Amino acid sequence: MNEQRWIVVPAAGIGERMGGHTPKQYMMLGGSSILQITLSQLLQVPNVEGIVVVLSADDSLWPTVNAGNDRRVHTTIGGQTRAESVSAGLTFVLSQCNPDTWVFVHDAARPLIQLSDVQRLSDAVYNSGAMGGILATPVQDTLKQASEYYGIERTVNRAELWQAQTPQLFRAGELANAMNKAIEEDKKTAEALDHQISNDNQPAPLTDEASAMERQGHEPLLVEALQPNFKITRPVDLTIANALLGAQRS
Ligand code: C5P
Repeated sequence: MNEQRWIVVPAAGIGERMGGHTPKQYMMLGGSSILQITLSQLLQVPNVEGIVVVLSADDSLWPTVNAGNDRRVHTTIGGQTRAESVSAGLTFVLSQCNPDTWVFVHDAARPLIQLSDVQRLSDAVYNSGAMGGILATPVQDTLKQASEYYGIERTVNRAELWQAQTPQLFRAGELANAMNKAIEEDKKTAEALDHQISNDNQPAPLTDEASAMERQGHEPLLVEALQPNFKITRPVDLTIANALLGAQRS
């Protein structure tokens, strides 16, 4: 597949669960920031015309990221939620290319991403003719539904459950429309809840791109990630990622 693609990298979060004052994308892993490592991986993806990194309005650390010197790397300002940040990134992409352009969305906080898995995702999507797809892994552990007070309400059948990761690959125009619709829907739901109007059919929160496409009735492809690609979320993840990066480099 020789078509040019774009990549949106949401990097406007503050990483509350990591603690500390440095946003997690700027925490160091073996001498480089997480964001630098993620971008240097993504810059090696074949046929990438541009990467837009979505930053928070008060980001002061972006100039420390060497990958920002690559002429394909651009920045834009994100929003209050990940979905709003991705939407801002897609607006930038659509100002540069046509709506049919394929765009990967990849979290800044997943520095372990391997080119072989990015390739598996794009091969699977292009070869199947699917409208898009995501990297994911089948759930391995037994799953429990918690009661309000952290008792176990029931055991959930994990047979058909997968954990979503990024990259997620869709056409820029379709994804932007779906994300913007879902963001508006969620704002209305939040307003209704403020007015105490409950809705039992409330959709799951918009924590990834595929969920916006699912709400439009699409069925994006699940493509298994074969390499570790977890999101740095808790302090211990930094230790594990450091060890894995060290092993990859040697
Ligand atoms: O907070 P979480 O771990 O889900 O964030 C996933 C990715 O989304 C991170 O790379 C984070 O920087 C980004 N994000 C964003 N804008 C926000 C919140 C999160 O770009 N408002």
